[in-house]
Amino acid sequence: MTTYSIAVIPGDGIGNEVVPEAQRVLEAAARAGGFELDWTHYDWSCERFAKTGSMMPADGLDRIRDKDAIFLGAVGFPGVPDHVSLWGLLIPIRRGFHQYVNLRPVKLMKGVESPLKGREPGDIDFYVVRENNEGEYSSIGGRLYEGQPDELVMQQSVFTRRGCDRVMRYAFDLAAGRKKHVTSATKSNGISHTMPYWDERFAAVAKDYPGFTTDQFHIDILTAHFVRNPDWFDVVVASNLFGDILSDLGPAVVGSIGIAPGANINPEKDYPSMFEPVHGSAPDIAGKGIANPIGQVWSGAMMLRHLGEEAAARAIEDAIEDVLARRDSLTRDLGGTAGTRELTDAIIGALPASR
Ligand code: NAI
Ligand code: MG
Repeated sequence: MTTYSIAVIPGDGIGNEVVPEAQRVLEAAARAGGFELDWTHYDWSCERFAKTGSMMPADGLDRIRDKDAIFLGAVGFPGVPDHVSLWGLLIPIRRGFHQYVNLRPVKLMKGVESPLKGREPGDIDFYVVRENNEGEYSSIGGRLYEGQPDELVMQQSVFTRRGCDRVMRYAFDLAAGRKKHVTSATKSNGISHTMPYWDERFAAVAKDYPGFTTDQFHIDILTAHFVRNPDWFDVVVASNLFGDILSDLGPAVVGSIGIAPGANINPEKDYPSMFEPVHGSAPDIAGKGIANPIGQVWSGAMMLRHLGEEAAARAIEDAIEDVLARRDSLTRDLGGTAGTRELTDAIIGALPASR
């Protein structure tokens, strides 16, 4: 029997609630699918930072380098600045393991009400592909004359041909199995060096994909189109910053942030990829047992797909769709009264093997 070894990092807040629940769903899917998941647990978190001064041990990446995948909850907690939790854990893993694609599906499901009036399931179904390693999120920069009247701060953006091309190719390859339509997020009117370069690479890469349609929008009007015309999109590719914004906005237009999944992918599989929901640690509801586990569970389905277990991934996604459509076991963020555990039980109950 195939065994996949998975690093589990629940992190902070509701990460500690939704991760174990999602593991139950993945275990059930693995039993039905005839494979095994071997979990190794890591306590890397803000809580660890508060005790030891670091989010993870200095050799953290080496400890998980040989895993097949990383299953992460969320990090961040009041008292620890967000740039510490981000740069102390998430970014080192994303960069160290060349997870240059951040992939987030945006799909309006039956049973979930979109905040957009008159949108039905099927109207909104696209992917945001965010560049995850370079771009605007660079550590190159600094501060001069700190605290003085002529204080000066600079931060550089970094766009490489390799970095642009590979994420764009991923977007086209993904669209190949869909509607073959790729949209690029740009801002080449205002950002006059890097964004025209991004556009240039997009045009160059698109040439290798005959039969595809493409378009591009400046990020400002693109955000408006996400709200007004979400049915226009199939695969949207964007730089790190623009992709970050779009990949929160996308899930927001299809309902609760609590159901949105995400993946940080190293497509070549030279390193483990990392699967985590879009939401954070939600300190406002942590410890109450009411967090929606669907974002975490769906991220787990994306992990199984990446590992090659397509049938099991599909089964989990179908179970999520069933439970959402039935509407009798939903958490508060979706207008129900169920707790995290009840909703998870409903998903497990909807998996084929348990029917
Ligand atoms: P958040 O996603 O944690 O919460 C935003 C709102 O959505 C809150 O009202 C929360 O209760 C609700 N919510 C989130 N997930 C939910 C779920 N599964 N079920 C029901 N309701 C849910 O974002 P926020 O408040 O901006 O950040 C809180 C902390 O999380 C911060 O420290 C932030 O840095 C961190 N964070 C971490 C991320 C990560 O680990 N990838 C991503 C986003 C935020
Ligand atoms: Mg974000």
